[in-house]
Amino acid sequence: MSQIPNVLSIAGIDPSGGAGVLADVKAISALGGYACGVIAALTAQNTRAVTHIQPISPEFIQAQLQTLFDDVTIHAAKIGMLGQVPVIRVVAESLQKATLPHLVIDPVMVAKSGDMLLEEKAVGEMRDALLPLATLITPNLPEGGVLCEQRAPENLREMRALAEKLRRILNDQGERWVLLKGGHLPGSDTTDLLHNGDVMIELPGQRINTPNTHGTGCTLSAALATLLAKNLPVPDATHQAKAYLVEAIRQADKLSVGTGHGPVHHFHAMWPQ
Ligand SMILES: Nc1ncnc2c1ncn2[C@@H]1O[C@H](COP(=O)(O)OP(=O)(O)OP(=O)(O)O)[C@@H](O)[C@H]1O
Ligand SMILES: [Mg+2]
Repeated sequence: MSQIPNVLSIAGIDPSGGAGVLADVKAISALGGYACGVIAALTAQNTRAVTHIQPISPEFIQAQLQTLFDDVTIHAAKIGMLGQVPVIRVVAESLQKATLPHLVIDPVMVAKSGDMLLEEKAVGEMRDALLPLATLITPNLPEGGVLCEQRAPENLREMRALAEKLRRILNDQGERWVLLKGGHLPGSDTTDLLHNGDVMIELPGQRINTPNTHGTGCTLSAALATLLAKNLPVPDATHQAKAYLVEAIRQADKLSVGTGHGPVHHFHAMWPQ
């Protein structure tokens, strides 16, 4: 077997390339995976706003998944923006059948610009039909709050309690982890928490002062899927994915893309200065 894993992103398209499938393809490629993509939604978007969303029919999403799975062995997948209830249903059904070795689900609800990316009535479907299939879920603090019907945590103590609640949404068979991301903590701390129902691992972080954080969540979940596909244990994959992302944020100002929240630098380790 090839040493290069095939990693699938199922997400939306952001034409500015900072988030969604385009960002995922960059992160997967930068970390040595072969990237595949199934498009679950189209957006008209730049670094400042999402102006339009064009849904894709659930039948066509299913056809994309089925056709890909018929031919290509997928070693890990990540799921990002799905947007609507019927899309969540069809993706959940397809992945239940496919049983991939690793599935990272980023329960995307709101874009960095503040625009909604998930129908409100779809939260229950996501929680009950989709998230239990995950090896690892990566909610940010507001998403974690919405999933557990409470306000977003504001400190590490509240984050720990929420991580425990979120873990109960996941299946009990096999290894299941929650990565609760601290990018929305007030102040300079951006600590993330990784929890599997047993251990609680802190990934300390300090806020980097840049507006260019478009797609941090997409990039992190794609990096995680790639490293899990390389058979790293979840804690090691998480430490490495976070280190990759932090450097991509640190070097984001080298790019010049738009006037809002610009993208992170996915190829910071490869491109000459
Ligand atoms: N300014 C920053 N400096 C350093 N780390 C950051 C910064 N912003 C976010 N992070 C880190 O980036 C990762 C993504 O976290 P965040 O909570 O921003 O996700 P998100 O809200 O899903 O992102 P997105 O808006 O792209 O969907 C986390 O590991 C978080 O700690
Ligand atoms: Mg996000």
